[in-house]
Amino acid sequence: MSRETVFVTGGTGFIGSAVLESLAARDVSLRALVRGSAGPDLPADAVQGDLTDIAPWERALPAGGTVLHCAAVTGKAPARVHHAVNDAATAALLDACARAGVGRFVFVSSVAARFPDRRRYPYAQSKAAAEAAVRSSSLEWVIARPTQVLGPGSAIADGLRRLACGPIGVRFGTGRVPMQPIHVRDAARALVWLATEGPPGIEVDLGGPEVLTAGELLRRFRLGAGRSGGPWLPVPLGPVRAVLGALEPFALPILPLTAGQLASFVEGNAGVARPPFPPGLPAPEHDLETMLADRNDDG
Ligand SMILES: NC(=O)c1ccc[n+]([C@@H]2O[C@H](COP(=O)([O-])OP(=O)(O)OC[C@H]3O[C@@H](n4cnc5c(N)ncnc54)[C@H](OP(=O)(O)O)[C@@H]3O)[C@@H](O)[C@H]2O)c1
Repeated sequence: MSRETVFVTGGTGFIGSAVLESLAARDVSLRALVRGSAGPDLPADAVQGDLTDIAPWERALPAGGTVLHCAAVTGKAPARVHHAVNDAATAALLDACARAGVGRFVFVSSVAARFPDRRRYPYAQSKAAAEAAVRSSSLEWVIARPTQVLGPGSAIADGLRRLACGPIGVRFGTGRVPMQPIHVRDAARALVWLATEGPPGIEVDLGGPEVLTAGELLRRFRLGAGRSGGPWLPVPLGPVRAVLGALEPFALPILPLTAGQLASFVEGNAGVARPPFPPGLPAPEHDLETMLADRNDDG
């Protein structure tokens, strides 16, 4: 019998590369969508292509196999780019997968997709729209929503460190909303399980072992950097997000961050169910101290 084929998008990214590493240890045939040049260490057959132009590489989608869709625009980008890549291209990929006879489609969403207020957050809007497309597809699907993913190469960890670890720590909002960060290797293991063993038709939040407030998370970053527990500069979120939102249409490239990127300080960033859910989902193995310490030397 031929080995199952898993096709990964976003395999060159922070989470996708950990997913490929984890999948490479399994008895599966691996393909990865790569839009630049594939590094020599890519543990998969590279499929050259861009998510926004599927026709040239559609034939590489595995009939009867699995697509693990990690690719997305994640950082500071115009709303139209978030919608084109995260929403429209995901819908087009679902159609292509249905034509190709793909068995399972695992969509890597975000807990931000279910933030009640997504008005100033095009990323969250695009993820929510993509989730709706996944739910209405004819494929066997799974939706996974990581919380904030930390570990070596985490852009979020770098951002939180910058806020917390200056001479005066910066804290947006009350600092009382819940956070539940997860280590990248734990998120990757859970995604691989969902792609290869878990039940279909489920939506699952992927959070880490500890729920703590945003203020405490920043404080732990600060202590981890060898600083004292304070002082803190509290910054009111409402006015800052309003100003950022007003400037973004014409000044996005020069803004340090966006209104959307601050949404987690309003809504929190925790999963609704503590792992392990569903039964069998690998529980996180890395505690918060490990996540805080685990970074690139230059990160
Ligand atoms: N990091 C987190 O804390 C976090 C939390 C919740 C959910 N997520 C979700 O997890 C997934 C992975 O996030 P990440 O942090 O690993 O992001 P990342 O490091 O920014 O990686 C994004 C990946 O998507 C690829 N990509 C972007 N646009 C593409 C396009 N038009 N065509 C083909 N590939 C494209 C990138 O390719 P290139 O290498 O060519 O740029 C890269 O491989 C995303 O869906 C994200 O929304 C992340």
